Amino acid sequence: MSTRVGALVPAAGRGERLGGGTPKALRPLAGRPMLLRAVETLLSSTLVSQVVVAAPPTLVEVVSQILGPRVRVVPGGAERVDSVRAALEALDDDIGVVLVHDAARPLTPAKLVDAVATTVLDGHPAVIPVLPVTDTVKEVDADGRVVRTPPRDVLRAVQTPQGFRRDILRTAYANRDLPVTDDAGLVEALGVPVTTIPGAEEAFKVTRPADLVLAEALLAQFAPGDGQR
Ligand code: CTP
Ligand code: MG
Repeated sequence: MSTRVGALVPAAGRGERLGGGTPKALRPLAGRPMLLRAVETLLSSTLVSQVVVAAPPTLVEVVSQILGPRVRVVPGGAERVDSVRAALEALDDDIGVVLVHDAARPLTPAKLVDAVATTVLDGHPAVIPVLPVTDTVKEVDADGRVVRTPPRDVLRAVQTPQGFRRDILRTAYANRDLPVTDDAGLVEALGVPVTTIPGAEEAFKVTRPADLVLAEALLAQFAPGDGQR
C-alpha cells in the first residue's frame, strides 16, 4: 500500500439547517470561510500530501480562487455521498490512504488529522474519531413511539476526518446507494473492521445557527485577532 495520504473535503452542501443564504462552506467564521479553515488544517498536517474539495457546482471557480493552487476543486453532487465520490475520482493515482473531512468542521485540531492518518498507516483499514454521547438516545418507530433505549455507555457520536485504505473506500463507494450517514457506514457494510480513536470537542459540526455562535466564541477565546489575518 502506498503511504501517501490524500484528503477529500465534501463542501457542496446547501446548509439548509444553518440558513442565511450563503452556501455553508463559504460562511465566514471570524472573517474567513469555514471551508478555508478546514482545508488549512489539512494542509498543515505534514502527513497530508493532496487535498481535493467537492464544491457547489456553480462555485467551483470561486472556491478554487479562495483555496489557491495547492487544492484541486471538483463539482460536488446532490447528496454527500455523490460529492465524496466525485472527489475520490480526482485523487492522484499514488495516494494509498484517504481521509474524508467535512468542510463544516472548521475548528478540528490538526492533531486529530494526524492521529487518524497515523492509525490507518499503522495498519487499521478504517478509522473514525468518536466521542461519548451526552444525551440519552432512543430508537423510535414511524409514529414516534419509543422502540428501544440503547444503553448510553456503548454509544458514540462520530466525527471527521475519517480515514481509510484507499482500495477499501473505493469498494465501499461502489455500494453508495446504501442509506448511511457517514463514510464508515459504507465500509462497515463490507464487513471491514472499523477502529475508533478519541475525537475532539472542537471537531464539532456547524449545523445550526447556535453552532456558528459557539464556533465564533471559541475562536475569540482561543485565537483572538484571528479574524484580522
Ligand atoms: N455535503 C456535500 N454535498 C452534499 C451535501 C453535503 O459535499 N450534497 C457536505 C457539506 O458541505 C458538509 C458535509 O457534507 O461539509 C456535512 O454535511 P451537512 O453538515 O449536512 O451540510 P449541509 O448538507 O450543507 O447542511 P444541511 O443538511 O443543513 O443542508
Ligand atoms: Mg446535509
